[in-house]
Amino acid sequence: MFGSEADPETKAGIEDVDLSGRTALVTGSTSGLGREAALSLGRLGADIVVHGRDRDAGQRVVDDLEAVGADARFVAADFERPEEVSALAETVREEVGELAVLCNNAGGLFQDNSETDLGVERTFHINHLSPYQLTAELLPALSPGARVITTASVGHRIATLNLDRLAALTGLSPWAAYCRSKLANILFANELARRLVAAGRNVTSNSLHPGIVPGSEFSRALPAPAPQIGELVGEFPTTDSVEDGAATIVYLAASEAVEGVTGKYFARCRERRPAPDAVDAEAQRKLWTRSAELLGIEEPLADAVEG
Ligand SMILES: NC(=O)c1ccc[n+]([C@@H]2O[C@H](COP(=O)([O-])OP(=O)(O)OC[C@H]3O[C@@H](n4cnc5c(N)ncnc54)[C@H](OP(=O)(O)O)[C@@H]3O)[C@@H](O)[C@H]2O)c1
Repeated sequence: MFGSEADPETKAGIEDVDLSGRTALVTGSTSGLGREAALSLGRLGADIVVHGRDRDAGQRVVDDLEAVGADARFVAADFERPEEVSALAETVREEVGELAVLCNNAGGLFQDNSETDLGVERTFHINHLSPYQLTAELLPALSPGARVITTASVGHRIATLNLDRLAALTGLSPWAAYCRSKLANILFANELARRLVAAGRNVTSNSLHPGIVPGSEFSRALPAPAPQIGELVGEFPTTDSVEDGAATIVYLAASEAVEGVTGKYFARCRERRPAPDAVDAEAQRKLWTRSAELLGIEEPLADAVEG
C-alpha cells in the first residue's frame, strides 16, 4: 500500500474503524503530515482539534474536515511560548473534555536555533519541550484507552543529546538540532509509556518515523534532497508521500492491532527497533526530570515512579 495513491486510513488498514464520539487533538495540523492525519481521523468519524499558528490555514483544515462530516475546531498556540501551550491545554480540558487521541506532531527543522525565553535551544523547545508540557497538562483529559502518538524521525539515529547542555549551542547546525530533538521525542514517548503503566493509567504512548516526505513544508528545510537524507540515516532511501507519512500516525491512533501496545517505535505501520540511545532508560528518566525543571513545573507522573 505504501507508495500507492490510497488514503492514510486505507494504507493503515483501518478504513472500517469508527471513531464517532471520540476526539483527537493533532498538533501541527495546519499543513503536511498533521493535516493529512487530521483529515483521515475526521473521515473515520472523530471530532478533531486542529492546531498550529497559522489561523487561515487552520480554518481551511477545519473547513475541509467539516466537508467530510467531521466536527472540528482550530486552536492556535505557538510552541515557543509555554503560556500558549498552557492555554491550548486549558481550552481542550475545559471546552472539549475527554481526549481519545493526542498526536504530538507539530515541529520542524528550524534555521534559527538561538535561545527561547526559557533559555533553551529553539528546536529542542518547539519539538520536544512543548509536546512534553502539553501532554503533562492534558493528562487529566486523556480518557481510558486513550493513545498518545509522538511524531519523531529516523534522524534520531544520528543524534547526540547532552542533557546538561540545552541552551543555545555555538556551532550546532539546524540539522543536528533537529536530530537531537527527535531523539528526545522517542526518549519522552518511552518514559511516558513507562510512567503511565506505573500509574495504572489505561493510556498508551508510542512514537514513529513518518518517512522522508518531500511533499511537506518540512522537506524544504532539509540540508540535502530527501533521498540523500534517507541514505544518510541508513533507512528507507526512498521518498514517501504525505499520505504514506500520515498512515503510521493514524495506524497508531486507531488500529486494533496496536491496542494496549505502548513504549514502541514504528515506521510504515510496523514496529521497529530505535537506536540504542533512544531506549536508554537512564536518559529517558533524566530527560523527563530535566524537562520539568526547564519548564519550571512539577514533574508529571512523579508519584508513579517514586517508592
Ligand atoms: N516531512 C518529513 O519528511 C518528516 C520526516 C520525519 C519527521 N517529520 C516530522 O513530522 C512532523 C510534521 O512535519 P511536516 O513534515 O508535516 O511539516 P510541516 O508541513 O512544516 O508541518 C509542521 C506543522 O507544525 C506546526 N508548527 C511549526 N512550528 C510551530 C510552532 N512554533 N508552534 C506551533 N506549531 C508549529 C506548523 O503549523 P503553523 O505553520 O501553522 O505554525 C505545521 O502545522 C514534524 O514533527 C517533523 O519533525 C517529518
